[in-house]
Amino acid sequence: MKISIIGSGYVGLVSGAGLAEAGHNVLCMDVDENRVEQLRRGQSPIYEPGLDEMLANNTQRGLLVFTASMREAVNHAEAVMIAVGTPPQEDGSADLSHVLAVARDIGDYLEKPALVIVKSTVPVGTCDRVRAEIQRQLDKRGTDIGFSVASNPEFLAEGVAIKAFMNPDRIICGVEDDESKQLLREMYAPFSHKHDKMMFMDVRSSELTKYSANAMLATKISLMNEIANIAERVGADIENVRQGIGSDPRIGYSFIYAGPGYGGSCFPTAVRALSHTAGEYGFEAELLNAVEEVNNRQKTRLFQVLQTHFGNDLAGRSIAVWGLSFKPGTDDMREAPSTMLIEALLDAGASVQAHDPEAGGEALKVFRGREGFSLHDDPYAAANGADALVLVTEWKLYWVPDYAKLAERMKHKVLVDGRNVWQRDLSVKHGFTCHAIGRPSISTPMVKQP
Ligand SMILES: NC(=O)c1ccc[n+]([C@@H]2O[C@H](COP(=O)([O-])OP(=O)(O)OC[C@H]3O[C@@H](n4cnc5c(N)ncnc54)[C@H](O)[C@@H]3O)[C@@H](O)[C@H]2O)c1
Repeated sequence: MKISIIGSGYVGLVSGAGLAEAGHNVLCMDVDENRVEQLRRGQSPIYEPGLDEMLANNTQRGLLVFTASMREAVNHAEAVMIAVGTPPQEDGSADLSHVLAVARDIGDYLEKPALVIVKSTVPVGTCDRVRAEIQRQLDKRGTDIGFSVASNPEFLAEGVAIKAFMNPDRIICGVEDDESKQLLREMYAPFSHKHDKMMFMDVRSSELTKYSANAMLATKISLMNEIANIAERVGADIENVRQGIGSDPRIGYSFIYAGPGYGGSCFPTAVRALSHTAGEYGFEAELLNAVEEVNNRQKTRLFQVLQTHFGNDLAGRSIAVWGLSFKPGTDDMREAPSTMLIEALLDAGASVQAHDPEAGGEALKVFRGREGFSLHDDPYAAANGADALVLVTEWKLYWVPDYAKLAERMKHKVLVDGRNVWQRDLSVKHGFTCHAIGRPSISTPMVKQP
């Protein structure tokens, strides 16, 4: 099948590479000409494990091609997939300008019948707006070309995106006619072979399914962070609580880790946008608003821990930060908890020595020119002379630090484990004080702090 994908970011590229891997003939389009040139040279503009190889293989097989021409993309295929960004706006709503701009372009260039598939995460009702926008442009041209619009939200998670795309739990499709259903079945047949993963429903339910999945996961995280804050106050350990409740199959172990708050492009946008949509329909989504508020507060937690430790005076302190991306396995720093922490530290007069195995390039875009921010190639170099080391993103290379090496290099032996992954009793043997999230801080000799 010939498929065009408009927008070659995390979702567009993974989908394009995955569909080409399954034997489809895919054209990936992007307005960013530099990005297209880079892709044509065989370089991926994003870091995603396994993506480079998959792009290279399928480009060589001639099944994956890149273009900056919208006209070419719209007419290449029987299915045109929209995978452009939908970032949050000031008022919490999703910015649909890119999606609607693509819809207008489709209306301007469409020459033959096609199925337009909205893969971007969008508020309920967006597919209707996409359909209206395309029709308006066709009417302007005085042409009458048949087209349908389907919703097909993406559930991949950065860091494990290839695996998630190639092996989906489910493939949600919101369709308005049988032909669209048939085409989507054909497109995803290689991904649905073992057992039927396709779930067809009406378009609005499909749109709402995606936001609901993100909102549910974000809610689990915020609830756990809320309980972690209670645990700190009552002298309990959130790690014991986590394992205690995770063993209940109705709850499960996923997404119940306390930490520095969720980030990325998906959860924050979905929670805000869903609440915003509810508001447009006269309904106040109180729980969603609380999820967002708890998360915003939690993003200040690591800074508070440092402030408390250093007597509310961080001026002149040097803080090492391990992990900058919003989660391991990606270089994506959108709404990453590290950003808020680093901004707060720099504003308080501290300097920041950071390390991340993949997000250095993105970090330089965010912090370039900010006095006091430095990026290091080696995690231990980042810890040199530091007053404290904070673990923000739990990349595997940080899980078992060489505490002796850290003790030699750091000025003060203060650790803040923002992900509750360090073996704190080991760190204490090397003389560290170790703070964590939702757990009593420990130091030598082991003392419980209120
Ligand atoms: N990143 C994720 O983990 C993830 C997972 C599921 C769903 N989503 C959703 O998928 C959508 C895309 O997310 P992403 O992370 O891939 O975004 P991204 O920012 O990585 O990529 C978007 C791409 O679209 C391009 N673009 C913007 N306007 C365009 C236009 N008019 N024509 C052609 N190209 C255009 C941009 O240049 C960019 O390369 C969003 O709605 C997001 O919420 C993302």
